[in-house]
Amino acid sequence: MSNPASPPVVGVLAERPPLTFPPGFLWGAATAAYQIEGAATEGGRTPSIWDTFSHTPGRVVAGHTGDVACDHYHRLDRDVALMAELGLRSYRFSVSWSRVQPGGAGPVNQEGLDFYRRLVDQLLANGIEPWLTLYHWDLPQPLEDAGGWPTRDTSARFAEYTSLVAGALGDRVRYWTTLNEPWCSAFLGYGSGAHAPGRSDPADAVRAGHHLMLGHGLAVQALRSSARSDAEVGVTVNLYPVTPATDSPGDADAARRIDALANRFFLDPLLRGAYPVDLMLDLERVADFGHVHEGDLDTIAAPLDLVGINYYSRHVVAAPAAQAPPQPYWRTPSCWPGSEHVRFVTRGVPVTDMDWEIDPPGLVETLQRVYEEYTDLPLYVTENGSAFVDTVVEGHVDDPDRVAYFDAHLRAAHQAITAGVPLRGYFAWSLMDNFEWAWGYTKRFGMIHIDYRSQVRTLKSSGRWYAEVIRRNGLAAQ
Ligand code: FCB
Repeated sequence: MSNPASPPVVGVLAERPPLTFPPGFLWGAATAAYQIEGAATEGGRTPSIWDTFSHTPGRVVAGHTGDVACDHYHRLDRDVALMAELGLRSYRFSVSWSRVQPGGAGPVNQEGLDFYRRLVDQLLANGIEPWLTLYHWDLPQPLEDAGGWPTRDTSARFAEYTSLVAGALGDRVRYWTTLNEPWCSAFLGYGSGAHAPGRSDPADAVRAGHHLMLGHGLAVQALRSSARSDAEVGVTVNLYPVTPATDSPGDADAARRIDALANRFFLDPLLRGAYPVDLMLDLERVADFGHVHEGDLDTIAAPLDLVGINYYSRHVVAAPAAQAPPQPYWRTPSCWPGSEHVRFVTRGVPVTDMDWEIDPPGLVETLQRVYEEYTDLPLYVTENGSAFVDTVVEGHVDDPDRVAYFDAHLRAAHQAITAGVPLRGYFAWSLMDNFEWAWGYTKRFGMIHIDYRSQVRTLKSSGRWYAEVIRRNGLAAQ
């Protein structure tokens, strides 16, 4: 954590040898319900916070919404056929809570569940392991109206919804993720307000983070009683190595603070059953932790079968300068309650279309850290990928930058395995271009290109490349 910023590997390696992954390595691709399904008002689905947010002028670039998205709800067969064409061993998708339990409470909506039953059955019929994420950011709007994640009761509602889904699909789904990236739900949703529900209150963000984790712990209990006995239950966190810009004590403190909020806020309760003391001190003037009840941390730290890690980039941070430059949206001060003064530094290294610095060594560091400092549970990269501007030329999309990104990060993943990290699988983000949250359809992460007018799907060269990686269980020399 204390190493000064190191240059990324992309484009620097002269020769990249062939690499083989361990037998049974789980090769997958990921999506999320609101980003691809569309059919927002069909089959009994009711609005989630992302429907409300995206329909609020000024919240999402160009006023884009997930109303239609990739129309996956109606194009399930075609999409599963494409997954089979890629040779995916696993597909990580999320369930839309308000599709299966409209309003977030009460009875199940069979029509909504039937959609996921069909999906799961088709995956199994094609030899693709379903990997189900219960919560990828789309809280039913009535639960937000009742207080949302800053309110304790939302955790209990989440456990109830989990029981419904596990009761219906628990016999055929083996891999379960409770939450996807609780940092984003808490600190972008209730801190900066850049994501739904778009609230901006630092104390609420801290409370939301806790109640998300409490909901996770209660959902684990629900899964243990309703899912099959060999179920693999975990949670997905988005982790960043946080590096001080220089070796000054001020920069070291900035890195400690951001690491506490971005990483340890979640890792410590989930895997050690306690909040870090320094984090609580940093948050002293923001939240008093009175929302943490006796027994909560034991619930949160319920034993898991695996840990999912989403990795995209590194944070390089510094103590405040007299004149700090303006920060991009995900780094607005209120995502970092109690540490708003920290400056995020750009290093001038290659970036993706999201402006995220490309940093494959950061994946090695992240995986090694979780293994060395937290757990020897199996780890999975549940998301990794890049947005680049893609163009369709005569029916083809050539995306060499995305191939280079995947290649470099898979080499990093392999390096971690060689160093002893129990990494068992990798999920590319994303199977297909989709609704990229506050960026709408302006950012493309897919291995399959989507023409949003015609809904035509075109396999990009990265998709073809990934199919070959899966086929050979590794990487060819580059
Ligand atoms: C992650 C999200 C995922 C997608 C990627 C680019 O934070 O989990 O839905 O938006 O970023």
